Parts: sequence; C-alpha cells; structure tokens
Amino acid sequence: MRYLTVALAKGRLAKQTLGLLEQTGITCDEIYDKETRKLIFQNDDLGMRFFLAKPSDVPTYVEYGAADIGVAGRDTILEEGRNIYEVMDLGFGACRMCVCGPESARELLSRNEIIRVATKYPNIAKSYFNNKKNQTVEIIKLNGSVELAPIVGLSEVIVDIVETGSTLKENGLTVLEEVCPLSARIVVNQVSLRMEHERIRKILTDVDAVLNSK
Ligand code: PRP
Repeated sequence: MRYLTVALAKGRLAKQTLGLLEQTGITCDEIYDKETRKLIFQNDDLGMRFFLAKPSDVPTYVEYGAADIGVAGRDTILEEGRNIYEVMDLGFGACRMCVCGPESARELLSRNEIIRVATKYPNIAKSYFNNKKNQTVEIIKLNGSVELAPIVGLSEVIVDIVETGSTLKENGLTVLEEVCPLSARIVVNQVSLRMEHERIRKILTDVDAVLNSK
C-alpha cells in the first residue's frame, strides 16, 4: 500500500487537526513527542505519514504532490493561490480577514482614494481592492505585527486577520470592512484525489461524521 502523506500547518491548527483525526481512528503517537527533531512521522498500520510545515508552505507541498492531503487556514490557501482542491471546511480556527485602521480612515475607503495598505497577505489585499472594490491602492508587504503600520504612518489601513479583535482595540484601530471569513480547510492534491479516491474519501467521510456529531 502506498503511504498517504498529510501536511499540517505547524501550530494551533495542527494540534486541533490531530485531535480531530484521532477521533476518526487516525493516530500518530510519534508526532506528540516534544523532544524530537524529526520532521516526518508515520503510522505503518494505516500506511500514513504526517509532517508539520510552515503554514504558507502547506499548499505548495500539496500542489506538487509531496503531500496528498493538507490542512491549512483559508487565509494561506487564498494567498498562495495554488492549484489544489479545497474539499472541506473544518470550522475551527474561525476568524475574519478584514480591512482595519483608525476610524478616520473610513472616509478614505468610501471616497476611493489611493491609499497605502500594509499586509502579510498582498495577494488577498490586491484581489479585494482591485477586483471587488475597483480601488487603486499601494500594497506594502509586511511579515508581522501589521497593526503597527497605521499607527506609525506607514499605511492608512491594513488587511489582516481579526479573531477576537483585542489586538485592534488595544491599538486604537477598528474593523472598517470585512474581506472574507476564514477557518481551517482540508486541501487535496488533484492527482491524489483521483488515484487515491477511496482512501481519501473515507478519511473525509469519517472527519465529516465527527464534525457533525458535535
Ligand atoms: C494575528 C493577526 C492579528 C491577531 C488578531 O497575529 O495578524 O495581529 O492575530 O487576533 P485578535 O483579533 O484575537 O487580537 P499573530 O498572532 O499571528 O502575529 P503576527 O501578526 O505578528 O504574525
């Protein structure tokens, strides 16, 4: 039997995904060993391998078939724009991609002014402003702590993830527009979905059953 390979986005999503898979009988004890420096773990009985990757790399592994299945946030999936199938919404990791800024920036958005937008997600931001709003903006790519940008005058607004809203609140910023809702998704390699259809379908059906039993 060929090993089915699963790529998980390192961090909170991976923990929740492993918990969910465990409820379907898919376990991988090795992966919980905090001391290990191993990058890939396998369950020989199930013929499955798991690895933890940087979230933004998960769609890449899946597109090239280095992983048959991946679990990543919809933010990463949209930003990477890879040729992969998004097959299931897992519901957890729910948050929103939003345009945020000081209340005073609301007017700039409604007047369709050329503004600067700082973000870790330049493709999502570009697509939102160009295609959905028809607004010309200058996108500035940052790698983290994006809320700083409007405070120190780097940009008028940001496009970023809002979960509880507390980061915005503590920095005097607010949600100005919602771009899209986000949550964890299962993605599948296009060839794997055909070649390993039965095995992948069974996993998806089992995961779906656990989600629906809650
Ligand atoms: C994310 C996001 C926001 C924050 C939102 O940042 O970029 O900054 O969480 O969460 P909240 O609405 O619950 O406050 P992350 O912790 O990933 O750090 P980073 O932006 O520095 O990468």
